[in-house]
Amino acid sequence: MATTTPHRTPDLDYSIDDFIAGERRDSVYLFRALEDAMVALATAHPGGHTARPGRVLDVACGTGKQAMRIAARGCVSIGVEASMEMIGVGRWVHPESDARIVRGIAESLPFADASFDRVICQGSLDHFADPHAFMREAARVVARDGRVVIALANFESASCRLGRAVDGAKRVLRRPRPPWRLYWETPEDHNVRGDLPFVRTLGGDALVLERCTGLSLFWLFEPYGRLLDALPERAAATLWRRLDRLARARPRHADMIISIWRRTDPDTPPKTTA
Ligand SMILES: C[S@@+](CC[C@H](N)C(=O)[O-])C[C@H]1O[C@@H](n2cnc3c(N)ncnc32)[C@H](O)[C@@H]1O
Repeated sequence: MATTTPHRTPDLDYSIDDFIAGERRDSVYLFRALEDAMVALATAHPGGHTARPGRVLDVACGTGKQAMRIAARGCVSIGVEASMEMIGVGRWVHPESDARIVRGIAESLPFADASFDRVICQGSLDHFADPHAFMREAARVVARDGRVVIALANFESASCRLGRAVDGAKRVLRRPRPPWRLYWETPEDHNVRGDLPFVRTLGGDALVLERCTGLSLFWLFEPYGRLLDALPERAAATLWRRLDRLARARPRHADMIISIWRRTDPDTPPKTTA
């Protein structure tokens, strides 16, 4: 079950040191595929065909990596981010990018109504003080025929459930357990715990869930991570891709859940894709 904590004040001081992506293959492959998927969804037509340059907003964009890739595809790309440190790192690494990164908070976006074709948010919604307020803002700033795309870590993934089960057995057998936070436990800087039932509540009255897809299986499950690192590169990549293909159709079990939303306005044309 998803749990929410009472609303807090927005976190304005996220540091690049808090962003631990992991160097093992399971993490490297996941983040690469996640970024590719988000950039493709940000720039594709809702029907899934031909990319057309549009206006894209990346909310809580961190260093602006995705926003910069989106700008490189010819879109007007704007990132909004609460932490000056993250904005500074992005500008320092890629001063040449056409993406515009501005300081702001997700719950009160500094943009006019209906000003973006896509609003995307990758791996950040669980950090927000009020994720539902952000979703209302996303619905406000997205165009009538636009889409809102959210990627969220799944704390009820097959990997989290397996990890918890193995840990439960260790407790029973009184085997040593690590002293650090275990990967299925909610990090301190998260305000909600993501899973599929929680994702389904996100639209409120403002947005309708068009489709939901998963990404990656068994991320951070220790025996799987060890196996991927031990395999020759090509075999590891193939195994990861095969499991990812299973995850795409099974968001409930996947490591990341990507949900795609459209506005609920009564005069929005009926849904065309599944
Ligand atoms: C885990 S990082 C993800 C960054 C980026 N989306 C990525 O995938 O690389 C979470 C980001 O959310 C930002 N953040 C947290 N709360 C925010 C808020 N209320 N409004 C805007 N940004 C926020 C943090 O400063 C941090 O850069």
